[in-house]
Amino acid sequence: MKTLVIGTSGQVGGWLRASSLKRGHACVGTGNGNASSGLIRLDIRDAEAVEDLIAAQRFDAVFLPAAMTHVDHAETHPDECRAINVDGTVNVARAVQRHGGTLIFFSTEHVFAESPHFYLEDAPCDPASVYAKSKVEAEERVRDLLPDRHLILRTSWVFGPESQKKNFVYRAVATLRQGKPLVVPSDQYGQPTYAPDLADAALDLLAQRKTGTFHVVGPAHLHRLDFARLVCQVFALDRRGIEGVPSATLGQPAPRPRFIGLCRDKLIAALGCDPIRHPQQGLQALRKEMEA
Ligand SMILES: NC(=O)c1ccc[n+]([C@@H]2O[C@H](COP(=O)([O-])OP(=O)(O)OC[C@H]3O[C@@H](n4cnc5c(N)ncnc54)[C@H](OP(=O)(O)O)[C@@H]3O)[C@@H](O)[C@H]2O)c1
Repeated sequence: MKTLVIGTSGQVGGWLRASSLKRGHACVGTGNGNASSGLIRLDIRDAEAVEDLIAAQRFDAVFLPAAMTHVDHAETHPDECRAINVDGTVNVARAVQRHGGTLIFFSTEHVFAESPHFYLEDAPCDPASVYAKSKVEAEERVRDLLPDRHLILRTSWVFGPESQKKNFVYRAVATLRQGKPLVVPSDQYGQPTYAPDLADAALDLLAQRKTGTFHVVGPAHLHRLDFARLVCQVFALDRRGIEGVPSATLGQPAPRPRFIGLCRDKLIAALGCDPIRHPQQGLQALRKEMEA
């Protein structure tokens, strides 16, 4: 199999390429601003460049984790967000439509409004932020352009070893090791998802020829404070450095759903097992990698 990972320079993309290579697939990777050696530089806003790459190599699967992922930047730069997350996704979907293969698109729990219930994959979306609205629109365009040749994988609070070292766990560990307070929202819930497991689950769904939308998130539904406390426990840090404050006082430009949860039953039924480890085990694996 021949795969393309658009956004290999990012957290999830790096693991998608690793998982592809582990299975013996030929894998081409791209980066944009952080394209290191071995990666092709590609901006998905450039429809011609996207078309040229996909037309020339005809991939069996195109993974698209690339996106504007900084939700507050997206809120204050809506045109840039739309150009990347919607128009860029459409450029990729059109090229896959023309040249064959399956598109694996990555989305977010933010497509839903906050709710005490866990969402099924086909529940109506109700996004609040510019970022979340762009993901809902991109999902719809992917379904329209590739009705039988797409996977849409919604995930949440992704963490794992990462070349750019920018996920929550790296930032939390660095802040607490410097003796600074770690300020976290005291009213937000999520499902921490270990990035290497997310990548393996994506490749497994593809291998089993599944299509459609899946929620690929970890087994624990945690408060951000509890996740921060778990980080302290696993990294042997003083949890008294954690300071919980209400989201409203953080001055974040983008609204975030506070209580939100994605139902994982469809994923587990499709794969016949739970592919995502508990965050405690994920954090232990990440610590081992960071100290190696
Ligand atoms: N991380 C999470 O907690 C989380 C939660 C829910 C959903 N998701 C979704 O999961 C996916 C992967 O997230 P991630 O954590 O891996 O994100 P990430 O680490 O921020 O990586 C984003 C990737 O997108 C690339 N990119 C940005 N703008 C681009 C453009 N115009 N053209 C081509 N590539 C571009 C970046 O390239 P350069 O760095 O080289 O510029 C990078 O490779 C995203 O779609 C995100 O929305 C993530």
